[in-house]
Amino acid sequence: MRKKVDFLIIGSGIAGLTFALKVAHKGKVLIVAKDKTDETATKYAQGGIAAVMYTPDTYEKHIQDTLKAGDGLNDERIVRLTITESTERVKELINWGTHFDKKKSGKYDLAREGGHSEHRVFHHKDKTGYEIEKTLVAQIKEHPNIEILQKHFAIDILTQHHLGKELNKKSKGIKCFGAYVLNPETKEIMTILSKVTLIASGGAGNVYSTTTNPRIATGDGVAMVYRAKGQIENMEFFQFHPTSLYNPGERPSFLITEALRGFGAILKTADEKEFMHKYDERGSLAPRDIVARAIDTEMKLSGEEHVYLDCRHLEKDDLIREFPTIYAKCLTIGIDITKDMIPVVPAAHYMCGGIKVDEYGRSTIQNLYASGEVASTGLHGANRLASNSLLESAVFSHRSSLNAMEHIDDIGFCDEIPDWDASGTVLNEEMILITQSLKEVQSIMSNYVGIVRSNLRLKRALDRLEIIYKETEDLYEKSVLTQRICELRNLIIVGYLIIKMAMQRKESRGLHFSIDYPNDSDKNGYISNNYEF
Ligand code: FAD
Ligand code: SIN
Repeated sequence: MRKKVDFLIIGSGIAGLTFALKVAHKGKVLIVAKDKTDETATKYAQGGIAAVMYTPDTYEKHIQDTLKAGDGLNDERIVRLTITESTERVKELINWGTHFDKKKSGKYDLAREGGHSEHRVFHHKDKTGYEIEKTLVAQIKEHPNIEILQKHFAIDILTQHHLGKELNKKSKGIKCFGAYVLNPETKEIMTILSKVTLIASGGAGNVYSTTTNPRIATGDGVAMVYRAKGQIENMEFFQFHPTSLYNPGERPSFLITEALRGFGAILKTADEKEFMHKYDERGSLAPRDIVARAIDTEMKLSGEEHVYLDCRHLEKDDLIREFPTIYAKCLTIGIDITKDMIPVVPAAHYMCGGIKVDEYGRSTIQNLYASGEVASTGLHGANRLASNSLLESAVFSHRSSLNAMEHIDDIGFCDEIPDWDASGTVLNEEMILITQSLKEVQSIMSNYVGIVRSNLRLKRALDRLEIIYKETEDLYEKSVLTQRICELRNLIIVGYLIIKMAMQRKESRGLHFSIDYPNDSDKNGYISNNYEF
């Protein structure tokens, strides 16, 4: 089946949906989502969206906090434009119907998270993402120009590499003409031709064994663009959230929002001792990379599988009112957060790098934009400041939409793109081959390419991954296409890119920490010594 649309959007989180709502008056929009429309990382966001609204906060303070967290690798021009557009984008979400919590005075009740010098996080209790996603999906469903294909999987973007050799030779630069999309139920592969394509496919936390990310986060967008020879960058900066609920066997790991530490919760060891001030004067509210490494160190020192977050000193009614989801979730595993400490452990959380884009969300492939977690805009540098991700998605989908609408009338369809060629694929692969390889990839990445790295560990990871890569490519060539094998292939590419980029970085910077390149602060103290195990 072939289909033509003006705007093809891969992904139905905040990045995809806000872009869709903005461009829909200009042409036909198709959103493809590989699960149910609302099954996105966006839906699980707890803490909120950072934006400047009231004094004493200023754009400059938010800019400086973002730069400080990014450890000198942010693109300052991008940081400045993102933060100065933050107020407008949050007001827009409010106008679409999103409810953020207010104080009795009528002012927004802004929270504070790690690395923020002011209270500036708009939130809806501890389920901000759910509120945003619900609001946007409702808007999308009302729009006559927007169609959603849920439970459809984008396999690859279409470029001139899909044309015969003669046609391919004629074109200059790589161009995107749409995507091949699989309907896993019927096994049909659709050819979707578009003038403009937006990749908004989210993150890749499932490359690690423990992650807060939902199952959809398998790095498909990064892998598609890498295969199409677009530029990918900064993949070595994978953020581990310091506090996911320690509940072995649960996947994804349930997040315990940083806002809880902003509310006064304190990290402690099993013997109830605070430890964060040994590592950073900001204590439990230091930026994530520092807190995650400190927890990792404490766990290695004690031999325990987790540390604790203590809320017992906080006012009970306020705690339950502000964090109802966390309170209820913990009760299901026998923890009453008003009486018991919460066992927490770091988990892979956010991909700071991704598809390289410019200030209008343009990738290095023509007519292909990227926004949201999949994009690398330059905002985060070596480490993302909490709650800047939803903001980045809103800002860059807005900027991409303006640029795409300006140019769409000059773009045509590429009718010469052939349909998917499934000849030669006869094998219905055994699922065990895929699930086992996936576990191996996750274990390699977690053991050798996690919070603490070394040259030796990275080399070992690359050698091991190469074997799985070859086996999987062989299987892929012969197999009838399924979503699972495509996702495995994509995660292997993501793992490969993280390792390769980590190997190229001969320093410890932000989220990339290597015992072979200790920072000055580490030489003085605690971290590097503890990692010699
Ligand atoms: P997502 O919301 O993840 O959407 C991705 C979409 O792409 C989905 O619709 C998926 O089906 C689709 N997709 C992917 N691959 C394919 C494919 N091959 N074919 C078809 N469709 C595909 N950030 C903050 O700023 N504040 C927070 O408080 C916060 N809390 C978080 C809490 C949790 C538990 C998690 C996991 C993340 C949190 N983050 C937070 C990060 C933030 O939620 C995400 O970075 C952001 O929501 C990403 O939005 P997105 O639109 O880029 O992608
Ligand atoms: C959290 O609520 O702690 C997550 C915030 C984020 O990832 O930005």
